[in-house]
Amino acid sequence: MNTIKRAAIIIFISLFLTTGYAFISQAAGNCAYILNTKCTACHNLGRICRKLEKKNKPKWLTTVKRMVRHGAPLSKDEVKELVTCLTEQNASVKDVCK
Ligand code: HEC
Repeated sequence: MNTIKRAAIIIFISLFLTTGYAFISQAAGNCAYILNTKCTACHNLGRICRKLEKKNKPKWLTTVKRMVRHGAPLSKDEVKELVTCLTEQNASVKDVCK
């Protein structure tokens, strides 16, 4: 019984770790995807990367919404997701801006 319990706990933890990790990497990967496909139609990434440390969250939200008005094809969810990535300068954004 004890071994079964331990096995169940181990399975539970590893399931949690894999799905959790997949979720995080997918979210971050999506920001890189948005930047590379939807933010480069009118200007290059340099324009975005230069501003990374200079804007806080409300400022990025204003900017990204303005880009949507210019014609960037982002859904509401993508706007939120991208603004979070840009504000936190997460790994995918740093990677794109290398
Ligand atoms: C339809 C064309 C278009 C697309 C697509 C686009 N932009 Fe822009 N972007 C512009 C124009 C035009 C300017 C200069 C005028 C301005 O700032 O509004 C600009 C300027 C900028 C600037 C510099 C100005 C500032 O306020 O810091 C940033 C940062 C920026 N864009 C980010 C983005 C991001 C992030 C995306 C993807 C969500 C994006 N852009 C997609 C047209 C576009």
